[in-house]
Formats: sequence, C-alpha cells, structure tokens
Amino acid sequence: TLLDVVIDNDLDIAGFGACEGTMACSTCHLILPKDFYNKLPCPPSDEEQDILDMAFGLTDTSRLGCQVY
Ligand code: FES
Repeated sequence: TLLDVVIDNDLDIAGFGACEGTMACSTCHLILPKDFYNKLPCPPSDEEQDILDMAFGLTDTSRLGCQVY
C-alpha cells in the first residue's frame, strides 16, 4: 500500500498512518490526481468510505493511503 511505501522508506510525515492500516484513524488520507485515482483497480470499500467521510478536506478523489495498492 502507499502506507507501506511511507513506512518502508522512513518518510517522516507527522501522524501519517497512526492506526497502522487498521482503518481507524484517517490520518493516511490522500487527495489523488484524478488521472491516478481513475487508474486504481477498485473504488473505496464501504468501510474505507466510512472512514473517509470523517477525514478533513474530503474530495472526490480522496483515498486512504493504507488501502491503495
Ligand atoms: Fe489509519 Fe489508514 S492508517 S486509516
């Protein structure tokens, strides 16, 4: 996932991925470019969408970084 990329590369993004991918925090909220978003193999699951609905600045191309492969 994109969260794994952040962790594996020791990227210092304050608070990113606080729940370690258990879909409990929305700190991995990403706003993706539309062309990238449209290339993802599947839309957000209902569970992911529920967490996204609590994210600050939600957009039509928002995803959770811990759910994007
Ligand atoms: Fe918490 Fe993605 S890391 S929802």
